[in-house]
Amino acid sequence: MKIDILTLFPDMVEPVINQSILHRAQEDGHVEIRVHDYREYSTDKHRSVDDYPYGGGAGMVLRVEPVVRALRDLDRKRNALRILMTPQGIPYSQARAKTLAKNDRIIILCGHYEGYDERIRDYFDVEISIGDYILTGGEIAAMVVVDSLVRLLPGVLNNEASAEEDSFSEGLLEYPHYTRPRVFEGKAVPDVLLSGDHGKIEVWRKEQALSRTKKRRPDLYERYLKRRKDK
Ligand code: ADE
Repeated sequence: MKIDILTLFPDMVEPVINQSILHRAQEDGHVEIRVHDYREYSTDKHRSVDDYPYGGGAGMVLRVEPVVRALRDLDRKRNALRILMTPQGIPYSQARAKTLAKNDRIIILCGHYEGYDERIRDYFDVEISIGDYILTGGEIAAMVVVDSLVRLLPGVLNNEASAEEDSFSEGLLEYPHYTRPRVFEGKAVPDVLLSGDHGKIEVWRKEQALSRTKKRRPDLYERYLKRRKDK
């Protein structure tokens, strides 16, 4: 997979993609991530990318020309999925991450300022929001998308099962995990996990996942039950 990130703040993005699993995934050739400062695509002498809104009002608006120039340069064949990060987009989810992970090429635009010139939207395939809150810019949101995508690419996680077993892949929250010590400040690891009986452990984990989801995320639990019934 190839990912191009368009941002005015490459220094916000670089440290995130050059650490840990995202870094290793690039080293191992599973993904190529390139970061572009789209100010480079501004042609006026101040290299401006924003301007005052027509009709007045507070804040600045991101101009359409530098964005479209960047898209045309990076995606000449028009074969990338173009994603616009915005709180007005469709809500992001694990299901959406799985769909996006099937693309060979993705371009992500991180916005800034009060908003985008509305005409920018015409040049994108999908608008994504990572939640109902407003960030100072799209960079952190784009990192959420990139991180969740890359870990789904085949070979990125050592343990293939761990991407599948995680929360949400089945529509349930994950069961509780424990490691050493067996007892910490009087809190003991559940006996079943020490029993060596893998069948019993699996049943316990499923029950835990179900009860935890029901308690913490009744919305997910209802959806899970409905899906089970439909099957
Ligand atoms: N840019 C600012 N806030 C955002 C959000 N919640 N999701 C995506 N992009 C954003």
